[in-house]
Amino acid sequence: MTEGTAPLLEVEHLSKRFGGLVAVKDIGFKIRAGEILGLIGPNGSGKSTVMKLLMGIERPNSGRISLAGVDIAGWPTHRIARQGIGIVFQHSRPLRRQTVLENIKLALLPDSLLRLVADPSVNDKAQAIATRVGLGAVMHRRPTTLPFADLRRLELAKALARDPQVVLVDEPFAGLTQAEVANFSELIDGFRQEGRAVLLVDHNVKGVAALVDRVLAMYLGEHIAEGSAEDVMQDPTVRRVYMGGKIESHARPEVELRSGEPLLDVRGVGVLYGKAQALDAVSIHVHEGEFVSVVGLNGAGKTTLFNAISGIVPHSGEIKWGGSDLRGRSVAEIARGGIVHCPESRELFGYMTVRENLDLGGHHLPAATRATQLAWLFELFPILEARQGQHARTLSGGEQQMLAIARALMLQPRLLILDEPTLGLAPVILEQLSKALHRLRETTPITVLLGEQNVTFALPHADRVYVLENSRIVWEGDPGRFAREMGTGYL
Ligand SMILES: Nc1ncnc2c1ncn2[C@@H]1O[C@H](COP(=O)(O)OP(=O)(O)OP(=O)(O)O)[C@@H](O)[C@H]1O
Ligand SMILES: [Mg+2]
Repeated sequence: MTEGTAPLLEVEHLSKRFGGLVAVKDIGFKIRAGEILGLIGPNGSGKSTVMKLLMGIERPNSGRISLAGVDIAGWPTHRIARQGIGIVFQHSRPLRRQTVLENIKLALLPDSLLRLVADPSVNDKAQAIATRVGLGAVMHRRPTTLPFADLRRLELAKALARDPQVVLVDEPFAGLTQAEVANFSELIDGFRQEGRAVLLVDHNVKGVAALVDRVLAMYLGEHIAEGSAEDVMQDPTVRRVYMGGKIESHARPEVELRSGEPLLDVRGVGVLYGKAQALDAVSIHVHEGEFVSVVGLNGAGKTTLFNAISGIVPHSGEIKWGGSDLRGRSVAEIARGGIVHCPESRELFGYMTVRENLDLGGHHLPAATRATQLAWLFELFPILEARQGQHARTLSGGEQQMLAIARALMLQPRLLILDEPTLGLAPVILEQLSKALHRLRETTPITVLLGEQNVTFALPHADRVYVLENSRIVWEGDPGRFAREMGTGYL
């Protein structure tokens, strides 16, 4: 269909260095109008940097970026935006005091705020965009009250409002359910049908393959394969450096004392956010040495549950740790007691280096133990060793996730709470993390409470599984029964 037409976006010999690191090396590709190019590669391979270079957020060291024949390489972001490139960020940054509709209106008129009030056609346009991306029912709400997927929709809407010829979409599927992925795919497919050129980055390999016309794979900043999704995913180098293998079930060590007093006992816990019931009479327990997964979609209440356990939000009901009630204890006291929470939001110290973040985690350990622990973590996540001196805020999305997990492990937790650890990780890293958790259980007395939407990751490790839906526990059982009784909708 688009074979004969000239490319809308043409990138040649694009390179970007950060100090001694070559993040993007001699990358080139073309995208025609009405075409979607997938960009895949392991964490830190340079995908987001390519997008930042196209958008003018970072300046390339060399290379050409030609948009409909005009070389825009090195232009400032606002000029590039005006010229016709738009980006959908992974992390939404809406104006919090404005409604959804007002946020879209502002994107429609970035240069003339005054006309915003005056022009009724702007209102109509904004409403049309809101409806199109599925925000029709919530356009008068403030972004802070929206669920996760809707915040993503708002980012799509803002990008659309500027009517870009080229749309850059960075990890739109991360953290979404399968149904939401299907829905977002349709929206992105809509961009293609309108004749826009789309560059799509995501670690959801199936989602990407189903949507794109072609795929380009990167590794360490360089081009390693290009072609149809099928061919690229079969490419031996891509398989080795990116795809990894299947996540395996392991024979689990027998947990003794299951009948005794649980290490963690959550009974009838409720959490209110204003008038909204975020957790409703939730009861779960975890025995020493157990691996328990809480499975649930975004917004089901997993993070709230973990925040209640680690003392971040007040709760009703009872949470007992080693037999004593946690009520009234500070976050720090709870952490010192051995409950280490690795939050979905990562909470890294952005202006500190990788090493400083890790050292903070391990500052309480004797020097020798700290060194051993650090060596083990560097073996687990070699990239962190290579980036010891880099500021955490400049790490790629997946690298930040690895650092957050590593820092939690530096604390040598008795109970490790992992909230959506798989978010943003390349398949090959998921496999590594899975193996690491297995080894951790074999070699240490650790107890794990895992919150996941990704059941292919959550089930193989779990001794027991809880399903959290709409603030309540709706199912409990062993992973073997999950597929039969709960599978639909999750698998
Ligand atoms: N400002 C910076 N200073 C130093 N290094 C940086 C900077 N920005 C990015 N990097 C490094 O460049 C590499 C490429 O990062 P980029 O964010 O492009 O990766 P990515 O392919 O998007 O990875 P992910 O899949 O994890 O999001 C990473 O190793 C990252 O740590
Ligand atoms: Mg990225």
